[in-house]
Amino acid sequence: MRVVITGGAGFLGKLLAQKLLTRGVLTNARGESQPVSDVVLVDLAPATGEAWLSDPRVRQLAGDIGDSALLEEALAGSAGSVFHLAAVVSGHAEADFDIGMKVNIDATRTLLELCRKLPTPPKFLFTSSCAVFGGDLPEMLADDHLPKPQGSYGIQKYIGEQLVSDMSRRGMIDGRSVRLPTITVRPGKPNKAASSFASGIIREPLAGVAAVCPTSPDTKVWLMSPNRVIDNILIAHDAPQSAFKFNRTITLPGITVTVKEMVESLRRVAGDAVASRISWQLDPAIDRLVTSWPKACAGDFAKSLGMTADASFDDIVRDYQAQYVK
Ligand SMILES: NC(=O)c1ccc[n+]([C@@H]2O[C@H](COP(=O)([O-])OP(=O)(O)OC[C@H]3O[C@@H](n4cnc5c(N)ncnc54)[C@H](O)[C@@H]3O)[C@@H](O)[C@H]2O)c1
Repeated sequence: MRVVITGGAGFLGKLLAQKLLTRGVLTNARGESQPVSDVVLVDLAPATGEAWLSDPRVRQLAGDIGDSALLEEALAGSAGSVFHLAAVVSGHAEADFDIGMKVNIDATRTLLELCRKLPTPPKFLFTSSCAVFGGDLPEMLADDHLPKPQGSYGIQKYIGEQLVSDMSRRGMIDGRSVRLPTITVRPGKPNKAASSFASGIIREPLAGVAAVCPTSPDTKVWLMSPNRVIDNILIAHDAPQSAFKFNRTITLPGITVTVKEMVESLRRVAGDAVASRISWQLDPAIDRLVTSWPKACAGDFAKSLGMTADASFDDIVRDYQAQYVK
């Protein structure tokens, strides 16, 4: 079974590819467990520097997903599963409307149209975001809360979800969209997501570097760890079509913490000296986006499929430290 991952050289794309190679099987659109024969990573530039990239099942295609020839080459007329992770992320899509539209909507539609032409409708997993929600939000969002995004990224993700649901209803693909909380702690370098600070305030102090927090300490964020989100994405992928009723969107369960509580977790896990590397300086543009997102989502449908949230933010910091801090 050929598996295509757009955004395959990104943070979650690489983790997903690695997990698929280890796991070795996926459930196809007919509900059969199939060996993963090829993992095709599509991204602007190839991933480098990781041992698993030399697995013979891995192939990398570098280019812009706006280029339909590149996508056709990736699908090779036979893809069984497509994980569509490539995106212009929140802060970037807000700063540059045109690039957000081009990648998050136009290229998503091109990819869906190409999937529709495959002889067997593939599984299609789309990573949406909690940024689809906005406006007056209750403390805890129900699964059927109406999205009212307050940023271009959220609007673009919402449109993607609707395309996935409608094309699935028509039997053109077997799609699923997962609305992700902020995923932290992201190793490596910051990206252009407005939520990037939620990783930076843990990652940089642990690396001996100062970090600036651009929100108020009382800002609540809705989080999930990288390993947990990959597990949940695979549950969403493997769930039977019969589990879905009126649409194909799943809001994941997460944990809610204030930014101050995140710093306290870091202090408990790594000590005062590490936590004291954080300073506070409000960035109104980031704060506006982050505070427009939900603080907690019930995720009842996700839980009914077997998805779970992390136990605590202390655990998330500990896991990151064990996996990435030398
Ligand atoms: N990480 C999070 O906190 C989070 C939260 C909610 C939703 N998401 C969604 O999950 C997905 C993966 O997120 P991530 O954190 O791995 O982001 P990331 O920025 O690390 O990865 C996205 C990848 O997409 C690639 N990309 C962007 N434009 C492209 C184009 N035109 N052609 C080819 N590749 C292109 C980038 O090069 C990058 O490698 C995204 O769709 C994102 O919107 C992530």
